Amino acid sequence: MDIHNPTYVEGHGLLKGKSVLVTAAAGAGIGYAAALKAIEEGCRALVVSDIHEGRLTDAVNSLKEKTGLRNIYGKTCNVAVEEDVQALVNFAEDALGGVDVLINNAGLGTSKLLIEMEDAEWMKVLDVTLNGTMRMTRYMMKVMKARGQGGVIVNNASVLGWRAQKEQSHYAAAKAGVMALTRCAALEAAEFGVRINAVSPSLCVHPMLKKSAPEALLQELEGREAYGRGAEAWEVANVMMFLASDYASYLTGENIACSSQQA
Ligand SMILES: NC(=O)c1ccc[n+]([C@@H]2O[C@H](COP(=O)([O-])OP(=O)(O)OC[C@H]3O[C@@H](n4cnc5c(N)ncnc54)[C@H](O)[C@@H]3O)[C@@H](O)[C@H]2O)c1
Repeated sequence: MDIHNPTYVEGHGLLKGKSVLVTAAAGAGIGYAAALKAIEEGCRALVVSDIHEGRLTDAVNSLKEKTGLRNIYGKTCNVAVEEDVQALVNFAEDALGGVDVLINNAGLGTSKLLIEMEDAEWMKVLDVTLNGTMRMTRYMMKVMKARGQGGVIVNNASVLGWRAQKEQSHYAAAKAGVMALTRCAALEAAEFGVRINAVSPSLCVHPMLKKSAPEALLQELEGREAYGRGAEAWEVANVMMFLASDYASYLTGENIACSSQQA
């Protein structure tokens, strides 16, 4: 494998027979890549969700077309709204006959110096990124506990939960919160056989990010990586698949950086 120009890794049956729910899966980044990977790793049925209805319909159609799996369902959900979160989990439980794996991918960022930050911007980023992950985790744990079959939750954090970067105080605080939530929730969930871990990407450049982030910033961030590039979305999804699979049976409350530089 050439680390500078990695070859797409084919599925190895890591999620054979499992049912999977992925949030924020209608973008161009990690969520969609995780949904595709879950199918390639042999999942039997999948619910994909996103706040954006139009792109979600496209994502469902594209996943069906690419993989031939018929049991793919879409359900819109804004993870900042508790009713949406409960409706999504209930829908997925019914459609899939129980959720084995939840991938909490939703997260939102902006760039703002702290001294210029309005409360509303701080709250929005925290509400989607931290509170949204908490809401999904809380309700899924409740439902998995009641079902009594165990389960796995994989949260998407970020190396910014550890590292400092200008204009990222809100996002970094939210992701540090996701890391802490993952550790504490995992301890509680172990009692009923549910594992909860997180992956922390460093940089994953994809078309939507290229549109929203200044080119100079992306180049600077790529330059900090030992590989001189960001991760492909599927490289982050691969780590999620490992965490979701039985290979990670003795891992819970952990946070794995997907990065080519030290935290
Ligand atoms: N891209 C990176 O470099 C990077 C680095 C570290 C962490 N992350 C984290 O990875 C996750 C995925 O980011 P990505 O950049 O790969 O994009 P992505 O394509 O996986 O996700 C973007 C999607 O999120 C959806 N979304 C936005 N707000 C939502 C909400 N309130 N409820 C539900 N869905 C919502 C959008 O509609 C969009 O389709 C995020 O949690 C992000 O913080 C990304």
